[in-house]
Amino acid sequence: MGKLLPCAVSLLLLALLSSSESVAAFPSLRVRGYDSIFSFGDSFADTGNNPVVFRWYSVFNPVTRPPYGSTFFGRPTGRNCDGRLIIDFIAESLGLPFLPPFLAHDGGFRRGANFAVGGATALDVGFFHDGEPAGPGASQFPLNTSFSVQLQWFESLKPSLCGTTQECRELFGRSLFVVGEFGFNDYSFSLGGKSIQQVRSFVPDVIRTISMAIERLIKHGATRLVVAGMIPAGCSPPILVMFADADPAGYDPRTGCLKDMNELAIHHNSLLREALHDLRAEHPDVEIIYADFFNPIMEMVESPGFEGDAFTICCGGPGRYHYNQEVWCGDPGATTCKDPSARLFWDGVHLTEAANRYIADDWLSSINSPASASNL
Ligand SMILES: *[C@@H]1O[C@H](CO)[C@@H](O)[C@H](O)[C@H]1NC(C)=O
Repeated sequence: MGKLLPCAVSLLLLALLSSSESVAAFPSLRVRGYDSIFSFGDSFADTGNNPVVFRWYSVFNPVTRPPYGSTFFGRPTGRNCDGRLIIDFIAESLGLPFLPPFLAHDGGFRRGANFAVGGATALDVGFFHDGEPAGPGASQFPLNTSFSVQLQWFESLKPSLCGTTQECRELFGRSLFVVGEFGFNDYSFSLGGKSIQQVRSFVPDVIRTISMAIERLIKHGATRLVVAGMIPAGCSPPILVMFADADPAGYDPRTGCLKDMNELAIHHNSLLREALHDLRAEHPDVEIIYADFFNPIMEMVESPGFEGDAFTICCGGPGRYHYNQEVWCGDPGATTCKDPSARLFWDGVHLTEAANRYIADDWLSSINSPASASNL
């Protein structure tokens, strides 16, 4: 894992790198500055849009009450976490403010904006609701917050950020675009009515949708993008509880994760990396970094460092892994672990701040040295 350099050392490096000779001497240490970050995705990246959207649809939302935010912010912020998300650690590390959620913040998006919404899918709602109306009032997930809807929000904000094409190219050229995670919700919302094989069949549609959205961001002037792959869904406590009666042969004996759900994620990630490879070939001036969401979580699942069972969530109701669909984190019947930093999962699929920090360190090492991460 790429550990972040201590602050003082990074400053020293920056000073060294400001002369071109030093840059040539350390080609893999190109330190780049960013003026702003624009983020798209689901609850893994949502810094506070979901309370607004869930209110539109009158959908119950546990994250607006304690103990959400108890480790870091000291209050619920709309993050599905006890503290900071990966995107928060990225913003901190790049010297930028925490990303204001586009729907909740009253202006001030010069340093970036976050369009990610908890429960968001890559595919549009019509795919899931079979043409049934999914407007406000239809409190059925997924809500109307797909990647293309988030792009429409971005496009509605754009005129307030920059005027001419040139101005926008300059602004977005100095911005980091963070895309994802997308995919987990597309697949998990479908598992109620479809087999894993049926779900697997629309992975290419999900990837094509992500890829087309990235093209659209590049057309707007994005030149540096970080695109997150999918989590190992077969290690996710809600999935493990959903398939609690699976054949014992369906579990990886080493990790206890569900093999076919992890295979779905591996398939998604391999098609995503192929799509990113094609995008890089089409846009040689654009840096596209693949952010690995799978392996850092696997490393933590396999690490003996976590308190008890890696799948036991910190905050939840009674039952297997403390995950209970009737008793959510924050409900009267729920319990919260004493030390969230000793756990991997916070309230179900979502990770603790400690886990987010571990993953952010990994992504940041790719963001800070994209040359070594021009991965395939
Ligand atoms: C979803 O939201 C977008 C953007 O606000 C809107 O254009 C579209 O009509 C909405 N779709 C549905 C099905 O409500």
